[in-house]
Amino acid sequence: MRARVFPDYEAMSAAAADVVRRRLGERPSSVFMLPTGITPLGMYRRLVEMHRSEGLSFAEATFFNLDEYLGLAPDHGASYHVYMKENFYGLIDADPARVFVPDGAAPDPDAECERYEAAIRESGGIDVGVLGIGRNGHIGFNEPGSSFDSRTRVVALSESTRQVNAADFEADRAPEQAITVGMATIFESRKVLLLASGTNKAGAVAAAVEGDVSESVPASMLRSHPSAVLFLDEDAASDLGQGVAG
Ligand code: F6R
Repeated sequence: MRARVFPDYEAMSAAAADVVRRRLGERPSSVFMLPTGITPLGMYRRLVEMHRSEGLSFAEATFFNLDEYLGLAPDHGASYHVYMKENFYGLIDADPARVFVPDGAAPDPDAECERYEAAIRESGGIDVGVLGIGRNGHIGFNEPGSSFDSRTRVVALSESTRQVNAADFEADRAPEQAITVGMATIFESRKVLLLASGTNKAGAVAAAVEGDVSESVPASMLRSHPSAVLFLDEDAASDLGQGVAG
């Protein structure tokens, strides 16, 4: 797993947007997996700007989101459906028929997970999976302890994740459960780009890059991925020692 360290969040976000732009240039029908959260906002902002100023088109691309809270309808203000619509899908020329976000309000969540996994397979698989990382090393909502063999499924969110994400909810906690794309499904992405910014991610980044490969640090799985790269700002890289490529 390579790591590239950028001077700040803006430079990291610009580089991430360039990866997406280049991939679209090579193959407009590329399949992307995308995260929500604070980290990717700069990348989305740039991609929207490229769409507006350069006519970068997403019309032939397919998008799968990584996760959604269980129990939230797609029009709930804190849902990832709304987040993606407001920050990305609603601002570009994405084809709604090729935009997938797990339905957190599906009457049968397990069936929804199977449907989602099948849709990823039928799309031909993920070309570029963009990830954030939780302070506890989670990717998607695969919390510590998630099996590297896992597929899209319903998971319990850790107490720390519920607290970190609490600001989006009136109660002082995020929901207890979510649907997440599984570890094995993420690993099958042909390219993985993990973004991390800020000192509060430095410990998780160091554990993923330099600690043991272990299900207790989900992001460490990416160490054996043939084409995974970490894009870090200097703060997120601040706990890394020697041996990491610049
Ligand atoms: C969200 C997701 C999570 C976040 C992670 C970091 O779709 O998959 O793994 O990427 O919790 O979140 P931020 O970027 O808000 O620090």
